[in-house]
Amino acid sequence: MPTLKVHHIGYLVKKIGKAVKTFQSLGYQIEQDTVLDEIRKVEICFLTKDGYRVELISPVSEDSVAAGLLKKYKNSPYHICYEADDPEAACQELTQNGFTAIDTPTPAPALNGRNVVFLMSPIIGMIELLY
Ligand code: NI
Repeated sequence: MPTLKVHHIGYLVKKIGKAVKTFQSLGYQIEQDTVLDEIRKVEICFLTKDGYRVELISPVSEDSVAAGLLKKYKNSPYHICYEADDPEAACQELTQNGFTAIDTPTPAPALNGRNVVFLMSPIIGMIELLY
């Protein structure tokens, strides 16, 4: 199995500006200011604390997939993103272990254009794989 390292925890929020301020009040620091991901129609801000990285995701359009997820999950964490030393092999291995890719590798503007793919497990829900 290729090695997976936790890269961030994805956290859905309705109001990203207020969410950033609230996380700051908990001691989080902004790692990367809010950027617009036009592909997914979301705003994204990365924060860190104690070696943890949190990705705030907020839909900017009703037809964003994140808007549907926000309705379902409310303001809450909803995925853990993993960085693999060999993403292709990792994706293949995950698929053999019950995960299903729910999209194809797509560039993430908030991650310097690196590709990400989301996978779903019937046991633990959604994960993200960073290429
Ligand atoms: Ni993410």
